Parts: sequence; C-alpha cells; structure tokens
Amino acid sequence: MRAEEQKGQGQQMFDQTAVKQFMIGDEAVENRANLEVVYPMESGIIKDWDNMRRIWDYTFFEKLQLDPNTNHMRKIVLTEPPNNPLASRLEMCRIMMEVYKFGAVHIATQAVLVLYAQGLDTGTVLDMGDGVSHVITVKSSHVMDIKSLRVAGRDITRQLIALLLRRGYALNRTADFDTARIIKEKLCYISYDLELDHKLSEETTVLLENFTLPDGRTVRLGAERFEAPEILFQPHLIDVEQPGISELVFETIFNGPIDNRKELFKHIVLSGGTSMYPGLSSRLEKEMKQLWLTRVLKGNDEGLKTFKSTVHDPPNRKHLVFTGGSVFAGLHNYEAPSWITMTEFWEKGDKYRAMFTRV
Ligand SMILES: Nc1ncnc2c1ncn2[C@@H]1O[C@H](COP(=O)(O)OP(=O)(O)OP(=O)(O)O)[C@@H](O)[C@H]1O
Ligand SMILES: [Mg+2]
Repeated sequence: MRAEEQKGQGQQMFDQTAVKQFMIGDEAVENRANLEVVYPMESGIIKDWDNMRRIWDYTFFEKLQLDPNTNHMRKIVLTEPPNNPLASRLEMCRIMMEVYKFGAVHIATQAVLVLYAQGLDTGTVLDMGDGVSHVITVKSSHVMDIKSLRVAGRDITRQLIALLLRRGYALNRTADFDTARIIKEKLCYISYDLELDHKLSEETTVLLENFTLPDGRTVRLGAERFEAPEILFQPHLIDVEQPGISELVFETIFNGPIDNRKELFKHIVLSGGTSMYPGLSSRLEKEMKQLWLTRVLKGNDEGLKTFKSTVHDPPNRKHLVFTGGSVFAGLHNYEAPSWITMTEFWEKGDKYRAMFTRV
C-alpha cells in the first residue's frame, strides 16, 4: 500500500475493504488507487521471485484451494517464453518441487502451446503481451526462429497517456496508468487505412468516444484510438529503431528455410492480450501481401494470386497459451517422457535438466 494513502484518502478504502498487506490480480486492480503496484515479471521473465511466490501462493491456495499435503500426487505444466534463461527455468522447477511439492513438472514453450491449441504443429506465432512482442516460427513443434520487438501493451498504454496529455488530460500516476490501460482495452483499435481514419477523425465525429474516469471526469477520444496501437506497426513513433510487426513477421518467415515458407505464411496465429485489437488481423494480412508484392514480386501483381497468408485470430487468443497447456496436460496426464520428477531433477546434472525441461 502507498505510504501517502495510508494516512490520507486511503482511509476511505479501509472502511470498505479488509486491510491486506498484499492484494493480487483483480482485487489489486480494483483498489489500485491506494496501492503500490508491482509487476514481478518483465517481458515474460520472472525478475522478482519473492512477489512471484506470492502470486503462486494466491493461485494454488486461495484460488485453486489445493491441499499442499497432496501435491506430490499432482503434476504441473508451466510455460515459458522462448528466450527464458536456463537459470530461471531451473528455479521455477525447484520452487514447484521443493516449496509446493508437486510430483512432476513439465515446462512448455508458450508458442508451441499456442499452435497446439489450434491443432497445429507448424506455423508462425505472433505473441504480443505486456512487455514484449515475439514472432516465433515453429516446425513439427520445434521452435525454429524467434525475433522480438521491444514494443507491447505497456508501451501502447504509455503512448495513449502521452497522446491524451496533448489534449489536456493528465493521467500519469501509477493508478492512472491502470485507468489508461482500461481505456486502451476498451476503445483502441488497429487502423486498416491510416489516411482514411485520419480524415474521418478530422472531418467527422464517427470515431469519437467518451470514457468516464473513476473521479467522474470524462475523457473524449478520437484519433488516439488508432494512433496509440499504431506503434506496433511503426515503432519509430516512440523512438524505437526496430521494424514493426508486419515486417518482423515477414522477415522471420522469409529468412527461414524455403520449404517451410508456405506453411508458415498460411498459419500466422495471434496470441496474447495485445493481439486483441479489432482490425489487427486484416491489417497484417494486407501488409503481408504488400511486402510480398514489393520484395518478392517487385511490383508485379500477377503473382499475388498464388500467395496465401492467413492471420488466425481465435476469439480466445488472449488465453491461448493456457488453452494449449490444458490440452497438453490432459493428453499427457499419465505417461509422458516429458515430465520431470523430483528424483530426476536432483539426481541428474544441469545439462540433463535443461534438455528435459524443453518441449
Ligand atoms: N482487449 C484488449 N485490447 C488491447 N489490449 C489488451 C486487451 N486485453 C489485454 N490487453 C493488454 O494485453 C497485455 C497483457 O497481455 P498478456 O497477458 O498476454 O501479457 P503477459 O504475457 O503478461 O506479458 P509478457 O508476455 O509481455 O510478459 C496488457 O498490456 C493489456 O493491457
Ligand atoms: Mg506473455
């Protein structure tokens, strides 16, 4: 809890909510104005193990109501981003076994699970979360290539705050950051045609939307709705000198082995919270075509008929890693060479553990 709030306006909260030293998830979001908000993960990698333990305690004991004395009979599937450091993976395994006493652990790569959830074992995953975006190409459930972009959900929220500031709305405290996030999730979208949307926002009122802040003020949004997430396609707008997502997807597929290209262009699967914007898949498909036309066909659009690129945007894409993980856990419940047990974990060397814990 914020020190300043403990004395002052926080008192209001004391009356309504039981005082807790730590609040997690939705409860923390609801009470955010009075809390010091921390994120134990950065770009998908655990950075703050003490607070991560609090999230796990809350998940296992408060939410799932697991009895720790029976955990040795349970197995757990954990997921990791493609670039998770080995030390981090081993520490996750150790905590699951030593602290929570699970009988066996499996660690799966998130992109592989995303494809799994779609019934695919080969494809391209564009995963966009809060801190980082990744393009991952996968063949027969093995990761072939990974490219990252340092622009994701948090940057879009920041950009929305910056754009709103120019209009005279000041949203910049930690708590307001969460309010801006909510506005972003509700009202932002990806423009299919920037020129048209700019024209619409300047000459008409069709894009205008109002949002009422917790303090009763109203924020009016127009062009900000598509300008904020545009940084995914044009990272230079926030001074990030990296190609945008279309180029990143295209190059990752195109620079790989030629015999996989067709499949990889045909199955581009979106995942993660930042892939939820309306309009994202059609803009990506349009730009894939455009890039193929300029880079491969050198402007000759005859060849475009045979180029097939599909961006899959399943409605549950925000939780696709979880869906894939639960399917995996269900199918491999009993025998699977991929489960690692406590005995194996401690008896064999690091190299063995590293190999064993990869999908
Ligand atoms: N409907 C939505 N529209 C736009 N953005 C959304 C939507 N829902 C969630 N988000 C954004 O998605 C992000 C969280 O996504 P996700 O849960 O995939 O991230 P994460 O896996 O925790 O982060 P990372 O992979 O970067 O470590 C947040 O920035 C959130 O604001
Ligand atoms: Mg993620």
